[in-house]
Amino acid sequence: MASFKKEFKSAEDEKITKNASENADDAVSPVSPEKDEAGDFDNPVRPLSFDEYIGQTKLKKNLLIFINASKKRASNLGHHDLDHLLFFGPPGLGKTTLAGIIAKELGVNIKITSGPSIEKAGDIAALLSAVSNGDIIFIDEIHRLPKPAAEMLYPAMEDFKLDIIIGEGATAKSIRINLPRFTLVGATTRAGLIPSPLRDRFGFTARLEYYDEKELAGIVARSAKLYGIGIENAAAVEIARRSRGTPRIANRLLRRLRDYMAHLKEDRITLEVAKFGIESLGIDELGLDANDILFLKTVIEKFGGGPVGIETIAQAMNDEKDTLEDVVEPYLVACGFIQRSKKGRVATELAYRHFGLIKEDSL
Ligand SMILES: Nc1ncnc2c1ncn2[C@@H]1O[C@H](COP(=O)(O)OP(=O)(O)OP(=O)(O)O)[C@@H](O)[C@H]1O
Ligand SMILES: [Mg+2]
Repeated sequence: MASFKKEFKSAEDEKITKNASENADDAVSPVSPEKDEAGDFDNPVRPLSFDEYIGQTKLKKNLLIFINASKKRASNLGHHDLDHLLFFGPPGLGKTTLAGIIAKELGVNIKITSGPSIEKAGDIAALLSAVSNGDIIFIDEIHRLPKPAAEMLYPAMEDFKLDIIIGEGATAKSIRINLPRFTLVGATTRAGLIPSPLRDRFGFTARLEYYDEKELAGIVARSAKLYGIGIENAAAVEIARRSRGTPRIANRLLRRLRDYMAHLKEDRITLEVAKFGIESLGIDELGLDANDILFLKTVIEKFGGGPVGIETIAQAMNDEKDTLEDVVEPYLVACGFIQRSKKGRVATELAYRHFGLIKEDSL
């Protein structure tokens, strides 16, 4: 268990070091769900058990059933046999956190890596040959695994074997190595980009949903307690309403409001402090940030409400298509502001109304 914590943390530290050198926290908008996070250092608010993990109720129930059953079988097998799991959904909804909790529930180590940090098949071989029986291997952004690396995973996931080629040219030969039993947990913001042979090798795939207000208010209250910040109930609800359904954003907003609290010389986050801070940060009543608003305004004002292709929107916004598709668009779709059609993105009547406009074809 101790090694779980250590490895879990060291992967976080890696992100932090990388981000610190890029000064990412300054660059990240206060309500962006992307990982910053200087404030996430040592992350005292990351849940370590299912009890602490608020929301995603259906998924949690299912996972507990699978985990408990595989723990029961372990008494015969000598090890748990939890199937490989794939989590997908927008950033900041708790995929990495879940992987850590699963490892802890099973009492095994977790090794954390990510698609982009694996460059070649050999990196997968190195990763897999270091597993001990029952370990969880967590691959974040698994849709970004290079093809040869993904192919190396197929026999490993299915038969717990590794095919390695030794030597070169005519003398090269392939040998099979037996691997200990491991459970791969993959996470992705884009399930559609995972090659189907890889997707098919997961025994269970789950989509993480945006959190509702009540769940987020609960997360804020819990985090405030752990950070030692006093907060009014109404303020926790206010943060929940403005956090794009995302725990990472809610926690970050809480930390920013702690700064406004100090600025206003209050000893806790009152509703007034929350409103003042949220307004100062430029977050609108639905929690939309500047980027969300720019996306909607681009579709409405520059392209007559659509349909317009995502590439064209990205160009007009001078932003990355991938970021728009992973981060910005899913929440606008969930709010009912954007519809995806074959011809492109369309701003709905609801989006027009959000800006006090009327959509012509709805007249
Ligand atoms: N269900 C939850 N209950 C309480 N806090 C949560 C929950 N889910 C996530 N969090 C908090 O939100 C933060 C972000 O979660 P996490 O890093 O697991 O997201 P993620 O889905 O892996 O994001 P990404 O796709 O960017 O990797 C965590 O540090 C944790 O504090
Ligand atoms: Mg993650």
